[in-house]
Amino acid sequence: MVRKPTPEDKFSFGLWTVGWNAQDQFGSATRAWLDPVESVHKLAELGASYVTFHDDDVVPFGSSAAERDSILDRFKTALDETGIKVEMVTTNTFSHPIFKDGAFTSNDRRVRRYGLRKVLRNVDLAAELGADTFVMWGGREGAEYDSAKDLNAAHDRYAEGIDSVAAYIKDKGYGLRIAIEPKPNEPRGDILLPTVGHALAFIARLEHGDIVGLNPETGHEQMAGLNYTSGIAQALWADKLFHIDLNGQRSIKYDQDLVFGHGDLFSAFATVDLVENGFPSGGPKYDGPRHFDYKPSRTEDFTGVWDSAAANMATYILLKERAQAFRADPEVQEALEASGVFELAQPTLAEGETIQDLLNDPSAYEELDVDAVAERGFHFVRLNQLALEHALGAR
Ligand code: GCO
Ligand code: MN
Ligand code: MN
Repeated sequence: MVRKPTPEDKFSFGLWTVGWNAQDQFGSATRAWLDPVESVHKLAELGASYVTFHDDDVVPFGSSAAERDSILDRFKTALDETGIKVEMVTTNTFSHPIFKDGAFTSNDRRVRRYGLRKVLRNVDLAAELGADTFVMWGGREGAEYDSAKDLNAAHDRYAEGIDSVAAYIKDKGYGLRIAIEPKPNEPRGDILLPTVGHALAFIARLEHGDIVGLNPETGHEQMAGLNYTSGIAQALWADKLFHIDLNGQRSIKYDQDLVFGHGDLFSAFATVDLVENGFPSGGPKYDGPRHFDYKPSRTEDFTGVWDSAAANMATYILLKERAQAFRADPEVQEALEASGVFELAQPTLAEGETIQDLLNDPSAYEELDVDAVAERGFHFVRLNQLALEHALGAR
């Protein structure tokens, strides 16, 4: 039995996840798009606390001002009735053909100006609905051909676009932070800011980078063969983990957007361990919503849609319980100690010690018995097996 989700779990879903009509590259839709109002009610029943959306998920592209107002009124009523909050809003700058070469980095300046307007309008909506985070996933910002883009100019335009949005947020006094979502490819052959590391380096060069951070997605790092937990760890270390997109991915292939834990389950355990328990020796900790960005598989009917939504939360809860038990186990604490995990938190130079002191310390070098030190076993395999046994509920 898995316990029911509670508000303390902070579960959040994109409306485009459960709402998706399951159309893919090779076949037509297998379900109808869901009414966002229905999704809000159903997600509340299942135990989620928040929803997130792209502008076009709620207000269809091209709606008139009057249509937009009445759609948003109806949506806000659903939020009031259920107590569901909007924690994050994002902009669709990838579906309409105008964005086929990107929004902020399209070679066509008219598209860049239009894209910026669409994003700014959506920033106003995000602030109005009380969101904290504004995600920017540049799925179309990229190219298929190396000759298609001046990549120096593309990075300039990307920075110009994001800095303009950040400056607007500050100007208006909105309580929003921007979270860039990296992805290596799909829909473009290569996407700009392909990984957490690329995005961190980009943010460091922004004028308004203080309110710009990251929204890493499990599958997007794994599509590049990278370790998601390491990625969010570095983002945390840099104080830039503003949001997370949790899902499942089975190795390097197309973006699967599976249910959380339905890809690399043991890696998902490590992710939950970090998110829930933090680093072994303390340090920055993620406190935001546990946001699922998955797609109910094309094989599923509506029963399957809601089963899969519930599956994300159930898997997370199970892993959370297992990860808490893992850290609370005295044998694990002893194994962490034996593996030197806590020792890594000790600065390499003692307090007040200078490089000159180190150079003058023969015990650190001249007299060190390197062969004896090299004999130390770290017992990481034992530690990993303890983690695995906890993950499988055997302890
Ligand atoms: C993907 C992405 C998108 C973005 C979303 C936010 O699967 O490629 O996750 O779903 O997260 O569009 O803008
Ligand atoms: Mn994805
Ligand atoms: Mn995502």
